[in-house]
Amino acid sequence: MRDENKKENDLMEKIVSLCKRRGFVFQGSEIYGGLAGMYDYGHYGVALRDNIKELWWKRFVDDREDMYGLDSAILMNQKVWQASGHARGFADMLVDCTKCKRRFRVDHLKNKEVCPECGGKLSEARQFYMMLETHLGTVHDEASLSYLRPETAQGMFVNFKNVVDSFHPKLPFGIAQIGKAFRNEIAPRDFIFRLRELEQMEIEYFVRPTDWEKYFEEFRTQMHEWIKDIGLQKSHVHEIEITDEDRAHYSKRTIDFEFDFPFGQKELYGLAYRTNYDLTAHKLEYQDEETKSRIVPHVIEPSFGLDRTFLAILSDAYTEDELNGEVRSYLKLSPSVAPVKVAVFPLLKNKPELITKAREVYIILKKLIGAVEFDDNGNIGKRYRRQDEIGTPFCVVIDFDTLTNDTVTVRDRDTGEQERVKVGELIEFIRNKIN
Ligand code: GAP
Repeated sequence: MRDENKKENDLMEKIVSLCKRRGFVFQGSEIYGGLAGMYDYGHYGVALRDNIKELWWKRFVDDREDMYGLDSAILMNQKVWQASGHARGFADMLVDCTKCKRRFRVDHLKNKEVCPECGGKLSEARQFYMMLETHLGTVHDEASLSYLRPETAQGMFVNFKNVVDSFHPKLPFGIAQIGKAFRNEIAPRDFIFRLRELEQMEIEYFVRPTDWEKYFEEFRTQMHEWIKDIGLQKSHVHEIEITDEDRAHYSKRTIDFEFDFPFGQKELYGLAYRTNYDLTAHKLEYQDEETKSRIVPHVIEPSFGLDRTFLAILSDAYTEDELNGEVRSYLKLSPSVAPVKVAVFPLLKNKPELITKAREVYIILKKLIGAVEFDDNGNIGKRYRRQDEIGTPFCVVIDFDTLTNDTVTVRDRDTGEQERVKVGELIEFIRNKIN
């Protein structure tokens, strides 16, 4: 068991180190010693996140006819949070160790009386509010109080009437939003797993009260399809039915989708049946033309953490093997999420004729595929290693044969095998492979 734990810690260390070395994720405020629960995303991190968001938007908004996009403000009137129950209810139960003074969330402890770190006695549990507060304007008083939203969901509920008035949707329909959320987590940890500033991709799907089970099941299937889209291993995802006592205050049924992260099986996504709790709280209704009555629709909420998606993808993609007698580490990313799809190299960096031809090929690919890099730094082996580590599925090399017969080699990241392809057929060849 101890060896297993060590292997898992090693894997996490390798992922964190690759993320920094290759410009995916940096510690927030690093030059000032960091800030707990905050991370900054670098060039390849931004690209990977954008790819995840784009795929999500395509599956859940663009490919459907019943979904409306939204980008609501992070700060909202404090009455939103009073009505939703967050202002008094968004809290964790917390205990302190009377000996080593460490602090723990009660729901994370197996033994609620003994400190898991030093064996000391734990204090009585007390509430710890997770809403981050701020004040708007010059006066710091109750009236100027606002909260950084802890979920994107409320922005969608308070815009329910706007969406109905603008688009006149028929039930069932959904509102979708991607955006930042903030939680004053007691113990931010495990790299980008538990953050204080996080990003969510959420849907509030409004249904007739009697239809909730049907759409709950539909989204359950859709969430598994999404997990396939981003290339996560099916066997690493586990559904957990959340018990009555552990469910959020607004939910009548919740399934967590847990993932085998390197540090253990932990929540990746949630699917909740929020009943008509939120629309009732905000005093919102819907005129149902089918039944000619005013009703309060019920809500199915699939909720996806973007940062946890990012970490799950990296955990599944990180691979070590031996290629041509050399040990290498690489990211076996699905081409759909890879930050760079193709890299183009001249075989040698001091041959102007190779560089000119390589740049010609690069410009054609860049125009049509977009996420393409040119690299003539260092020897070719080093260039392959660099692209392998950022998960680039294909490397195109321009060599002396290219100058005579207009063909290039295309190297596959996972097998290291190379194929010769005509420049005129390159785009189609790569597009077929990516798709
Ligand atoms: N609107 C419902 C809601 O916010 P949640 O289970 O609290 O539900 C939804 O959060 C998702 O947001 C989680 O499944 C997870 O992916 C992500 N998430 C929640 N807290 C997080 C944190 N502190 N750091 C990173 N991601 C988090």
